[in-house]
Amino acid sequence: PKKLILDVDTGTDDAVAIMLAALHPEIELVGVTTVNGNVEVQFCTDNSLRVLDHIGRSDIRVYEGADRPLVRTGHPVPKRYEDGGEKYHAEKLPIPDAISKKAEKTAVEFLIETYRAATDPIVLMPVGPLTNIAAALAADPGFVKRVPELIIMGGGYAFGNVTATAEFNIWGDAEAAARVLNSGFEKITLVPLDATHQALMTLADCDRLAALGTPAATATAEIVRFRIDVHDKYQKMGEEGGAAPVHDAVCVAYLVDRDILATRPYFVEVETASPLTVGTTIVDTQRRTGFPVNVDLALTADPRRFVDMLAETFAKPHGG
Ligand code: BDR
Ligand code: CA
Repeated sequence: PKKLILDVDTGTDDAVAIMLAALHPEIELVGVTTVNGNVEVQFCTDNSLRVLDHIGRSDIRVYEGADRPLVRTGHPVPKRYEDGGEKYHAEKLPIPDAISKKAEKTAVEFLIETYRAATDPIVLMPVGPLTNIAAALAADPGFVKRVPELIIMGGGYAFGNVTATAEFNIWGDAEAAARVLNSGFEKITLVPLDATHQALMTLADCDRLAALGTPAATATAEIVRFRIDVHDKYQKMGEEGGAAPVHDAVCVAYLVDRDILATRPYFVEVETASPLTVGTTIVDTQRRTGFPVNVDLALTADPRRFVDMLAETFAKPHGG
């Protein structure tokens, strides 16, 4: 199996990513690290623990990480949706409270120690702001050489989802993202909104999963129905709504089936200064900068392969 560490800001789509990673037979989820993002880091930790308990994988440990970005002060954890003035966590999970407790070790300690001790390749998959990864790089200069592959959910080529051009994970800690992309990792796959918005799940897909009746399938159906409801209110997806992206889980699916995404090599950097475009990923498609390529950028995705993998993986009995 492919070894994986998920760095999450759980998060509704992070929750689906954790379930797919924990239950897919070809993946060994070595650990989960949490970061401030969708919600405050302690809620990301709690949400991650309850997901793992829910599917019977309490053996997978959760390591809590950064509670704020590297540099930016007063960074509000954005409640990105308001319902009649009532701010609510757009990332509430329909899953019972966690029983398990987070590990003592911090996310950065776990990342550095695990890669120092690793004898097999472990893919590192950040699907939240990149604060923990940048912190590990700063704490251990050798870290960049020990990580064989980064698969990052983040960025936007043609559009953003926090501002016109900036995507949430990169925008959440632009300095950390800039640091990660210019650190010289061996292999970085960047999965932006342009790709994840092509791997939409529909209400019919939710019904298909709900019919499976397993803890992961039932939770995913409920979670994605909630995401579709929010998107139908604030940002219709697909032809006439009734669909939602599950950004983070697409990255996990790609680890197993590399045909789910099509990528092209580009030099990509992150704006960290301009108030108008901070957090924007700048893709040098015309080779104007002359800088060497640093990422494989995904621009297309296959929704059928993605949803079929979820259904296949979540159909198998688990949890309890
Ligand atoms: C990213 O932002 C978060 O809301 C999701 O969990 C995903 O990681 C998409 O822009
Ligand atoms: Ca996320």
